[in-house]
Amino acid sequence: MLNIALPKGRLGEKVHGLLSSVGYAAGDLSDMGRKLVFENEEAGVRLFLVKPSDVAIYVEHGAANIGIVGKDILEEDRPDVYELLDLGFGKCRMCVAGPKGFADDGCGTLRVATKFTNVAARYYASLGREVDIIKLNGSIELAPLLGLSDLIVDIVETGSTLRENNLAVLTEIMPISARLIANKVSFQFQREEIGRLREILAEAVGAK
Ligand code: PRP
Repeated sequence: MLNIALPKGRLGEKVHGLLSSVGYAAGDLSDMGRKLVFENEEAGVRLFLVKPSDVAIYVEHGAANIGIVGKDILEEDRPDVYELLDLGFGKCRMCVAGPKGFADDGCGTLRVATKFTNVAARYYASLGREVDIIKLNGSIELAPLLGLSDLIVDIVETGSTLRENNLAVLTEIMPISARLIANKVSFQFQREEIGRLREILAEAVGAK
C-alpha cells in the first residue's frame, strides 16, 4: 500500500478530480464528512487528508510515502523530500502586493505582512532591502488596509481579493502550482510503485 497525503480545501478538490480520473480515488473525498483516511485496495493506495501545510511534514517523516502539495509550501518550508512532478494545476503566483501605485522609496524599514515569512525574508534579502516581516495566518490583505504593514507577500490566484480591497500586484516573486512529492527513503524502496503512479499522473496532466 502506498500512503498518500493530500491537501484539504481548494487544491484538494482538484487533486481528488485527478485521482478519480486515473482510478486512484478512494471513497468519496468530495463528501468526506469528518473521515480522514480512505483506502482503495485495488489501486493499492491509502489516501489521507491533512491541512495543506502539513502534507510535506507527513511525507518528510515517512508517515506518507508521497503527497501532493503547492509549490508555495515547498518554497516556504523547504522540506527534505523529492519533488517528482509539476502537476500543472492549482496555478497561482506568489506576489508582493500593496496599495495601487505604492513606490518603495528605499528609506527606513519596510513592513511586510505574510503567511510566507521565509519566502518574504529571502526575497527582500536578495534585494538587500531592510524589512520587518509580520507573520499572519490569513486575510493578509487586511494588513495594509489597517496600517499594520506597508505591503504583503501572498498568493494571488484570480486577483479578486486584491481588487476588492483596492490593492494591486507590485511584483511577481514566483509562479506556483501543485507538485507530487515523495519521501526519500520510500522513493528508494518503493521506487516501482511510486514511479508507476508518477507516470500515470504525468500522462493524465500532459506532463513528461
Ligand atoms: C488565499 C490568498 C489570498 C487569496 C487569493 O487566501 O491568501 O487571500 O486566496 O485568491 P484570489 O487571487 O483568487 O482572490 P485563502 O482563500 O486561502 O484564505 P486566507 O485569507 O485565510 O489565507
